[in-house]
Parts: sequence; C-alpha cells; structure tokens
Amino acid sequence: MQVVVTGGAGFIGSHLVRTVLADRHPSLAGAEVVVLDAFTYAGRIENLAPVRDSPRLRIEHADIRDPARVREVLTGADLVLHLAAETHVDRSIAGAADFVTTNVVGTQVLLQAALDLGVGRFVHVSTDEVYGSIDDGSWPETDPLLPNSPYAAAKAGSDLLARSYHRTHGLDVVLTRCSNNYGPYQFPEKVIPRFVSNLLDGRPVPLYGDGANVRDWLHVDDHCRGIVLAAAKGRAGEIYNIGGGTELSNIDLTFRLLAEVGAGEDMIERVADRKGHDRRYSVDWSKIRDELGYTPQVPFDEGLAATVAWYRDNRDWWEAVRR
Ligand SMILES: NC(=O)c1ccc[n+]([C@@H]2O[C@H](COP(=O)([O-])OP(=O)(O)OC[C@H]3O[C@@H](n4cnc5c(N)ncnc54)[C@H](O)[C@@H]3O)[C@@H](O)[C@H]2O)c1
Repeated sequence: MQVVVTGGAGFIGSHLVRTVLADRHPSLAGAEVVVLDAFTYAGRIENLAPVRDSPRLRIEHADIRDPARVREVLTGADLVLHLAAETHVDRSIAGAADFVTTNVVGTQVLLQAALDLGVGRFVHVSTDEVYGSIDDGSWPETDPLLPNSPYAAAKAGSDLLARSYHRTHGLDVVLTRCSNNYGPYQFPEKVIPRFVSNLLDGRPVPLYGDGANVRDWLHVDDHCRGIVLAAAKGRAGEIYNIGGGTELSNIDLTFRLLAEVGAGEDMIERVADRKGHDRRYSVDWSKIRDELGYTPQVPFDEGLAATVAWYRDNRDWWEAVRR
C-alpha cells in the first residue's frame, strides 16, 4: 500500500506521517509513505526528523500547482491524503493570491491526476471554517458553506471541487472537516504555539478584541485518527466532521496557557480584533462517531500540558522560524 501525504512536512501532515510510520494506525500498518510538499515557510524537514531514516518514507519536493510533477509523484499511489494548503487566516487577509492558487487550483490539479492515474481513494482534508460562524448549536455536514475569511473561502472552493470529482467523475473521494488543532510542531504563527513561545521568552501575548471568540480545540493526534478512519471506512462521496475537542473562548485558552507556563495576567496585551473574525465554530461530529466509531482520545488538560512541555523542550525548533 502506497500513501501519498500532501503537505506531509507541515503541522498535521507530519504528525500523520510520523504516526503512520510508527504503525499507530492499524489500517495503514506497513504502508509506504510518500510526502509531497513544496516546503513553504510552513513545511519543514525538521518535522520529519524522527522518521527521516525510515525505508518506508520517500520525500518529494513538489508543488501541487505543478501538474507534471504531481502526476509523477502520484503514479503508483493507492491512497492520497490531501493536507497541503496555505493555512493561516491572518496571512490570507494580508494577501489571498497564494491561498487561491494552492488551495483551489492545487487541489484541482491533484484531483485530476488522481482521476487520470486511477488512484484508489482520495481523502480531502477540509476545515470547519468552511461553514462560517455559528452562535449556538453545531453544524451538521449538510449545512451550507458560508466561509468568511479568504482562507476559509479558498478551502471551501477546494472542498466543493473534491466533492464534484466524486459526483461527476466517480473518483473515490472522502472529505473531512475538522475543528481547531493543537499539538507539537505547529508553526508559531498559530495562537497556541505563538502564545506559548512568547510566554517562555517572557514576552506578552497579543489577544484579539474582547477575547470571546470560541474554538473547539482538538489534539492533532485525534484529527489524524479521524482522517485515517475516514480513509479506511468512510463512504465514497461523503463528508465527515471531526470534532469533540474542548470548546474554549480565546480568553479562557489564554488563562490556561498562562497557568501552564506560570505567567500572570499582566502578560496579556489586548490588540485590535482580526478583520471579519469568526465568533464561534462548532461541528456536530455524530456522523463520524456513529458510522466509523471515531471518538477523541486525548484529554485537553493532558494534551495541552504535553504540548507546552514540547515547546519548552524544543526551543531550537521554534526559535529558528519565529518572527
Ligand atoms: N491546523 C488546523 O487547526 C486545521 C484544522 C482543520 C483542517 N486543517 C487543514 O489541515 C491541513 C493541514 O493544516 P496544517 O495546520 O498542518 O498546515 P501547515 O500550514 O502547518 O502545513 C501546510 C503544508 O502544506 C505545504 N504546502 C503549502 N503550499 C503548498 C503547495 N503549493 N504545494 C505543496 N505543498 C504545499 C506546506 O509546505 C506545509 O508543509 C490544511 O489543509 C488545513 O486546511 C487544519
């Protein structure tokens, strides 16, 4: 079995690669892994260091917008797990062009190559942000897509294209839409690693607006478990929300991080809110639970403590790239 992981040098993709090669996912035991990654600022070879010498790993430096290279890399693949994307909302507000070309065009290039080459299954890793913002309750997979940021809009475009390749061409596509992830190896532009690295350096943490925006925080290990379950047992053409983390407002998350690092509230620096900042995300994940037997397994307190400890122990990793 050969699995291509696009974006396999990023935060979630590298976790997936490390856990597949450690045979932590029974359905992928013994699989060969091909990492297809453009190694943008977010894709780092260091993220693959623990498995670099595995004879089951091949690393392909390639851009998903390049049809010839994509075709080369996907030749012989049984399964594509597609995670490559531009992912930082703030960057998409500053300039959205790469978000459209990578997330939308790049996904179409991959889907077309998978179709032409007869790849067995294509898992498109989408996000809960495609639904927009919800004040109460949770989104089922059937809710309309109302993305608000250019990042989320570009992800929604790729999400719809993935579904269309199933409906139109019969490509075996499964989609996942997950809530916010945290864990080791997350680039220090995202809120948890940014705040933790600042606090470890005795620097204040910039909290957007009133701090009341709510996110569902799920450990990256649980997201990867959901992706692999969707790959193994998901029905073709179906969408599976992945959630079940811990819902927290940004201010509550900040308090937890301050407590973990042993810093005081004086380290909070209030800054102007992000433009178009979504208030709350919440997915209804009963479908993946009932159909595929998914349940999250990492308790938030334990996962967060381990994550903070990882950043404390791996200062070189984040100091090298922090702004
Ligand atoms: N982080 C989250 O909380 C979260 C939640 C739900 C879904 N997702 C989705 O999961 C996926 C991975 O997210 P992440 O947080 O690991 O992102 P990340 O930014 O850490 O990694 C993205 C990876 O994609 C690669 N990449 C970017 N442009 C590319 C291109 N043109 N060609 C080839 N590779 C390219 C980068 O080099 C990097 O390795 C994304 O599709 C994202 O939308 C993320």
